[in-house]
Amino acid sequence: MIAPCGAEAQVVLPGALRAEQSKECMTTTSTTEPILSPSLLAFIQQWKDKPGNLIMVLHRVQQEYRYVPREVACKVAELLDVPLAKIYGVITFYHLFKLKKPGRHQIAVCMGTACYLKGGEDLIKEMETLIGAGVNTVSPDGEFSVEVVRCLGCCGLAPVLTIDGEVYGNLTKAQLPDVLAKYQGAPATPAEVNAQGVST
Ligand code: FES
Repeated sequence: MIAPCGAEAQVVLPGALRAEQSKECMTTTSTTEPILSPSLLAFIQQWKDKPGNLIMVLHRVQQEYRYVPREVACKVAELLDVPLAKIYGVITFYHLFKLKKPGRHQIAVCMGTACYLKGGEDLIKEMETLIGAGVNTVSPDGEFSVEVVRCLGCCGLAPVLTIDGEVYGNLTKAQLPDVLAKYQGAPATPAEVNAQGVST
């Protein structure tokens, strides 16, 4: 069981374990070391000795990369001097953290009662046809990832979906291609540029 947010203990790795961990990181990731941005490094330094630092740092990593790349997890383990296993324990415990690189644009289809009854499922099926990605998958071109959410709080607009947080209500299957086209090939965000520097 992972300690709740902010309660994890500071762990100092013995030399042998540290060596084993760095070997594991080297053998399971790309040979190039991730280059963390100056602001991320500064953030890690700022939190290095504070309680609850792991959660805070992982949040910051995900903010920068949109997920937690393994290379970066290894680097964080090294910088915070904590076991890699502990980092993965936290990542897998909290659903918020992503281990896999998401699509460039994140689609959330509402399947709350109102949206379900008004055709939310049809939107998902149509999306599968249009972008080749179903629920919890990424389209083959890496443009979109799709997830299902429960009630976005605007049931009067059902069926509803969001793309990168932008809300589309009263949506029909026929409108989907135009909506998706707005995002396809849109310029990369700073987070994407960071993520491209890290292999998956
Ligand atoms: S059920 Fe979809 S917004 Fe409420």
